[in-house]
Formats: sequence, C-alpha cells, structure tokens
Amino acid sequence: MRKIIIANWKMNPDSTGRATKLAEESDIEGLVICPPFPFLKVAGKVIKKAELGAQDLFWEEEGPYTGEVSGAQLKDLGVEYVIIGHSERRKLGETDEMAAKKIVAAVKTGLTPILCVGESKKERASGITKEVLEKEVRIDLSLVASGYTLNPIIIAYEPIWAIGTGVPDKPENTVEMAKFIKKTLLASGYTLNPIIIYGGSVNSKNAKDFLKHKEIEGALVGGASLDAEEIKKIVEISKKYA
Ligand code: PGA
Repeated sequence: MRKIIIANWKMNPDSTGRATKLAEESDIEGLVICPPFPFLKVAGKVIKKAELGAQDLFWEEEGPYTGEVSGAQLKDLGVEYVIIGHSERRKLGETDEMAAKKIVAAVKTGLTPILCVGESKKERASGITKEVLEKEVRIDLSLVASGYTLNPIIIAYEPIWAIGTGVPDKPENTVEMAKFIKKTLLASGYTLNPIIIYGGSVNSKNAKDFLKHKEIEGALVGGASLDAEEIKKIVEISKKYA
C-alpha cells in the first residue's frame, strides 16, 4: 500500500509569498501539506499533485467561538485531512476529551483525521508508554468507535521527546508501538481502518529506517518539511517501500 507523508509546517513560514513558494516547490504526489490556516487557500491554489491538510479544527459546526475554525470551513478550502491532538496543542491544554470531539467533527465533515499520540520522556523512562498510548487511543476514538468504517483514520505515533529534537525514536520501537496501537484498536472491537505512521525528527537521512517497515505506513514531518528538497526526498524514499 502507498505510504503517506504529511508535512506539518506548524506556525511557519511568516508570509504568504514564502508559503506560496514552499507549496509550489513541495507539490509532489503522495504528500499532504498542512500549512497554518491563513495559507490554506494559497497553498490549495498552487498545489496540483499534493493534497491539503489543516493543523487543527473546532468541534462545533458554527456559532460564537472566537478564534476557532470549523470542519466545513476547512472543507470549503479544499482541505482533506486534519491533524488532531498534536502534542504541541496538548501542551497548551487540549485534552483527550477535546480530541475525541474533534475526531467526530472531522469525520462528520468528511475530513480524514490524523490523530497524534505519544509518550513524554518521563513516561518512556518509567516504562508506561503502552499504557499512555492505550489511554489516548481509547478516549480519543471513543466517540467514533462504532459505525465508522468509511474513511481511514491516520494515527501518528509521535514520542513527545522526539519532536523537533533531532533525536528520533528507534525504528524497532516504532514498529512495536505501531503493532500495539493496531492490536489495541482491533481488540476494542472498533470498526476503524487505522493507518499508523511515525513522527518525530524524521528527515531524508533517517526516513528509510522507518519507512522500510511494513508496520510504519508513513511519516509526519515537521522541521524537515520546511525545506522542499528534503520533503520531496522523503516522499521519493516512501515510494520505494509502497
Ligand atoms: P519534527 O516534528 O519533524 O520537527 O520533529 C514532527 C511533528 O511535530 O509532527
């Protein structure tokens, strides 16, 4: 199966001009580009082969929610995917219960959710990674647990300590966690179609180490996605293991 590479630009770049250029230069099949909200429209206009994703959404459909963005508003801009529960949002107060409502909102609007889960350094050191993942997956997917079979759901295993640090996970551990997440979902009786990907300091040098494993079905790339050559290389590598 084709692997999926997701470019998470986070709060970058700083101007429409730079965002347009980066989107144009990164326009490659097999890539989902997730720019900040203000650049979704321009990025959507210039990409022909890549697909468009957003970095967050709100669970309500419309109304008095200052600063929030709905699934329908994203859909209207051509967005197909949406990142939910990224650790950088959880750090600012997003809970599993909020992530669960966002997953429902995404599914209802026809957006493919990219749910991020992962343990902190302390949790890894205490040997409770699987407990952390099990709890996140269970609560975050609790509201769509039954009757949701139409679209795939992407689950990004992102150890928090590996994000933006230049120190990725050990691929063997990622494989084990990917299997664990799938097993947990199946054991819960969920009728979901999960695609498990890895995120955390992925670049063109280490991408192969992860993507060569069949259990790792793609990558969520932050820092390296701001360099068009880097992200294109990562997508090319992913195609070798499709
Ligand atoms: P990174 O970010 O590639 O810069 O580590 C990954 C992410 O936060 O999704």
